[in-house]
Amino acid sequence: MLTNRYRRIACSDITVLRDERQRTDLVLDDLLPSIKARGVIQPIVVTEDLVLVCGERRLAASIKLGLHDIPARFASELDPIELQIIELEENLKRKDLSWEDQTRAIVRIHSLYHKLDPEWTQKQTADSIGLATSTVSMMIGVGTAALAGNERIAKATGWRQAHNTLAREVQRKNDTILADLTESITRPQGALAPPPVESIITADFTQWAPLYNGPLFNFLHCDFPFGISIHTSDQGNSDSYGGYEDDPNVYWELLESLATNENRILSSSAHMMFWFSMKYYCETRDFFSHRLPEWTLEDFPLVWLKSDNKGILPDPKRGPRRIYETCFIASRGDRLIVRAVANAYAAPTGTKSHQSEKPEPVLRHFMQMFVDEHSRILDPTAGSGSSLRAAESLGAAFVFGLEKNEEFAENARTALRNFRTLRAISK
Ligand SMILES: C[S@@+](CC[C@H](N)C(=O)[O-])C[C@H]1O[C@@H](n2cnc3c(N)ncnc32)[C@H](O)[C@@H]1O
Repeated sequence: MLTNRYRRIACSDITVLRDERQRTDLVLDDLLPSIKARGVIQPIVVTEDLVLVCGERRLAASIKLGLHDIPARFASELDPIELQIIELEENLKRKDLSWEDQTRAIVRIHSLYHKLDPEWTQKQTADSIGLATSTVSMMIGVGTAALAGNERIAKATGWRQAHNTLAREVQRKNDTILADLTESITRPQGALAPPPVESIITADFTQWAPLYNGPLFNFLHCDFPFGISIHTSDQGNSDSYGGYEDDPNVYWELLESLATNENRILSSSAHMMFWFSMKYYCETRDFFSHRLPEWTLEDFPLVWLKSDNKGILPDPKRGPRRIYETCFIASRGDRLIVRAVANAYAAPTGTKSHQSEKPEPVLRHFMQMFVDEHSRILDPTAGSGSSLRAAESLGAAFVFGLEKNEEFAENARTALRNFRTLRAISK
């Protein structure tokens, strides 16, 4: 508690240097009734020349209520820590203060009080600045994370959103630790094993999955061949990139392999992004409910709108050009997302190195929901490897991809190497 030596000074003797004050309008409505009932309890602070240092609202309210004098303390008599607290508390009342500055100020006020009195509580800080204890406690959490440089907090649009982001962060971390511990009992070699040495290997997922015994992944990015025979289409530019087999049986075989081996490769607490063709919307949902019943499939898919209007025109006489792609979100173990983003994103197809490449900006946008430092991502049919680059740019713990086609895999490895070199240089 601040020391309480004060004297009473006539309100009319105090000078307010208006030009130097940050507040342009003074809201007194909340203050007038309490001063009327109890008088000014917290002294204002003035210089020896009676120039106001802080307490303008209390002074203005006293004048408005016709009070002759007001309790005041001289700034020169204050302990430097007390002075800092008073300045911060004054500053906190500014209407134009951003939520980031507000939370940082509350953290500083609380820690200064703590310096004066090690027994000081958050409730006392809350009482001192006139906010509810729960609010102050949340704001101290957010402000502390902001001061520590938490980037997700920096992206929040308000302190409540920042607080929710933090709460999810803690829960995701605990969730990951718990799942790892549980799985390390049933899979002593697997769950906590070190990440694979090579990030992208040339391999067939259907043959690799039954033999896998490494760390379990908690984020699966699936972009299987859609099974819509794109390799026989003359509209997919497959020749310029090198095509891949896209018969329906390729799609269903990959899905079947995923279902058979899910527990060998995926953690019990995991997210999945699953790109699919609308042609198999119902069949894919059915497959999930029968063969992957532990997974909850969101009703609303993610949508990538190709803003350059590129897409297949299957029947120019009967139907439109298809310029969007859809992706299911699935989760198991009630895993929380990192942060919510819009479920549609418009971006051009861009410069591609693979016929079916999902652009990194699109993936980064959606993956912000699923990827943080606890994410271990697997892409079983990685193609150009854009998903791995996107996840790595979002701070994933590690990324791993398979690609059956040797040339695609080699291009993806080169792209990932170049991406890592560029990141290292720009850091
Ligand atoms: C739709 S593309 C993936 C595109 C990728 N998401 C991208 O953004 O570049 C499907 C890829 O799966 C590969 N593929 C097909 N069957 C596979 C299998 N059994 N195992 C691994 N990769 C396979 C194909 O060669 C093709 O590159």
